[in-house]
Amino acid sequence: MRKLGILITGANGEMGHGLISRLAEEGSRDIIGLDVRPIDEPLKAKCAAALDGDILEHRLLERVQSEYEIHTVYHLAALLSTRAEFTPEAAHRVNVEGTMNLLKLATEQSRLHGAPVKFLYPSSIAVYGLPNSTVRKQIGKVKETDWTFPITMYGCNKLYCEHLGRYYASHYRQLAADRSSGGVDFRAIRFPGLISAVTMPSGGTSDFAPEMLHAAAQGKSYSCFVREDVRIPWMAMPDAIQAFLRLEQASKESLTQSVYNITSFNPTAGEIREIVVREFKNADIKFLPDDKRQAIVDSWPEDVDDSAARNDWGFSPAYDQTRAFADYFIPCIKRKYSSR
Ligand code: SER
Repeated sequence: MRKLGILITGANGEMGHGLISRLAEEGSRDIIGLDVRPIDEPLKAKCAAALDGDILEHRLLERVQSEYEIHTVYHLAALLSTRAEFTPEAAHRVNVEGTMNLLKLATEQSRLHGAPVKFLYPSSIAVYGLPNSTVRKQIGKVKETDWTFPITMYGCNKLYCEHLGRYYASHYRQLAADRSSGGVDFRAIRFPGLISAVTMPSGGTSDFAPEMLHAAAQGKSYSCFVREDVRIPWMAMPDAIQAFLRLEQASKESLTQSVYNITSFNPTAGEIREIVVREFKNADIKFLPDDKRQAIVDSWPEDVDDSAARNDWGFSPAYDQTRAFADYFIPCIKRKYSSR
């Protein structure tokens, strides 16, 4: 018999940490964590199985297929937007071919156990591409269907994988005589910039806000790579995890689309600096914009319309800007670095 479990790729990443910790607290499901780097020991302890390996390795995926019965996949593994620009073809392989491998695995799993496999996919505001700052300022909250002209490899990959997911869920092998549909129940969230008080991001372009916070908490100076007037949507990591779990639990009938925007607050980089400096009196944060990374952030919207997520599956973040800083970022970060 195969062992029952929930599969989480990219287990070692920021979302992986948040999700695995949360699921382990709930304790109701066995977690199969998979990552290209050996999974951190404390995280490993929370997994029923911790697999080191590449999602491009077919043999590894075949092993997963033969050893485990999987009804839910959280496919978090990806190369983020900054890193992907240095190795775009490698990013395409990981972000697109890797996702297709997982969609195939989910399809096959469903065929083996006879029930649909829920496939939770983190997409991003990077799927948007706004032409210039005048448009950016004028359009306000962007809807899922608008302005999807990404300028990064990561954004292109995420947008395409949203379509791949929809294809596997609704149109897979549509001309085959033995076609059996509904194997994959694909559900995606376009996340805003995420900030965790516990872990640090790596390789993203929205990393400036978490970097600012974590540097200040450790008494390190920080040069912010975007202008202080730049504004994008943000969310505290616990809300991102909660949203994912809520979307997973939503009834299929309540979902009117397969991809949803969500957001919580959208201060400028300068406003984030002000809050951080108020809390950490010795913070030394300068703005030293890197024009190229700035251009990437400038192509992302200042705000997104998340009314579909609110209406269809009751998305409602617990942390607005004030609460996020007062009750989560600041106390948790202080605790993290004071205990060292
Ligand atoms: N946070 C991601 C990045 O900066 C966007 O999804 O690449």
